[in-house]
Amino acid sequence: MSEQQQKKLIFSGIQPTGTFTLGNYIGAIRNWKPLQDEYRCIYCVVDEHALTVKIEPAKLRQKTLEAYAQLLACGIDLEKSLLFIQSHVPTHAQLSWILNCSTQFGELSRMTQFKDKSQKHPDDVNAGLFDYPVLMAADILVYNADLVPVGADQMQHLELARTIARRFNGRYGETFTVPEGYVSPLGAKVMSLQDPTKKMSKSDENPNAVILILDDKDTIIRKCKRAVTDSETEIVFREGKDGINNLLTIYSAVTGKTIQEAEKEFSGQNGYGKFKIAVGEAVADHLAPVREEYARLIQDKAYLKKCYTECGAEALRYSQRILNKVYRKIGFVASEIR
Ligand code: TYM
Repeated sequence: MSEQQQKKLIFSGIQPTGTFTLGNYIGAIRNWKPLQDEYRCIYCVVDEHALTVKIEPAKLRQKTLEAYAQLLACGIDLEKSLLFIQSHVPTHAQLSWILNCSTQFGELSRMTQFKDKSQKHPDDVNAGLFDYPVLMAADILVYNADLVPVGADQMQHLELARTIARRFNGRYGETFTVPEGYVSPLGAKVMSLQDPTKKMSKSDENPNAVILILDDKDTIIRKCKRAVTDSETEIVFREGKDGINNLLTIYSAVTGKTIQEAEKEFSGQNGYGKFKIAVGEAVADHLAPVREEYARLIQDKAYLKKCYTECGAEALRYSQRILNKVYRKIGFVASEIR
């Protein structure tokens, strides 16, 4: 077995519903890059998941390409990893159907993201929204991934994927690897700048609540200056100081300094003004190369097409073998077509 095959396998995905937020970046994408040296990594723009909330076709197409280019700009290296578009690889949706039949209605009803999103969009509580975690399980299990790096908000879905894998293995014999979640110890939940008790989310209606990874320096600094904090003056990480805790976490994630080092750096300052500007500058400086690289890549549609086509073909070859095994195990008649 080659060294490449012995390495553990990572899978993760991200929805192309808008420009990525600093939450997506710190909670997930930032960790994807270093993992490429230690693991075989498969990363995916999950456009099928994005259909669960109404989205214009032209916007979905554009956002999917932009998401792909943003991930490359963030350092996904195609010499080491696969990066493809979910709808190009039909095995995910195929496995999803099979896994549906090993998932209980009650389990899906308990998913907090389903409850939140169905409250937010009461006019469109579609079956896809309900079934979304099963497609996510299929994304992971169709590669027999060992490890899944995600932000804290996806852990409930990952736990369900583990339950489905174990249940399937119990019923049909060892088939799937039971995947482990990997949540970064720092920044697993980056909070809104306007309401630091809520997670930073692409769908927030208040643009000041969210830093986008393609925001320019002035915009990032302005958003940080307006960040909601508290009426004290001390820059310390402590319970009850949600706004400051969030800014310290962000600062620490983009500078590589520990929270304690950051606290020390800003100790003795009277008020939060300078600290907020320093956070904004550190974020903008950290993201500047991503913005530059993105601007270059998004112009080169032919290159993007070559990348997602080659990676998609490889992902299909790999996952088809696992899907064929599943088909045998569950008793489907063998076919020459597959
Ligand atoms: P999505 O597209 O909502 O988010 C992508 C990744 O970003 C993380 N994240 C955050 N982390 C910290 N703080 C935040 N404020 C924040 N907001 C988002 C998410 O936890 C996630 O890791 N269902 C998934 C996509 C998916 C997937 C998969 C992930 C589909 N199939 C298979 C892993 C494996 C989702 O909607 O993520």
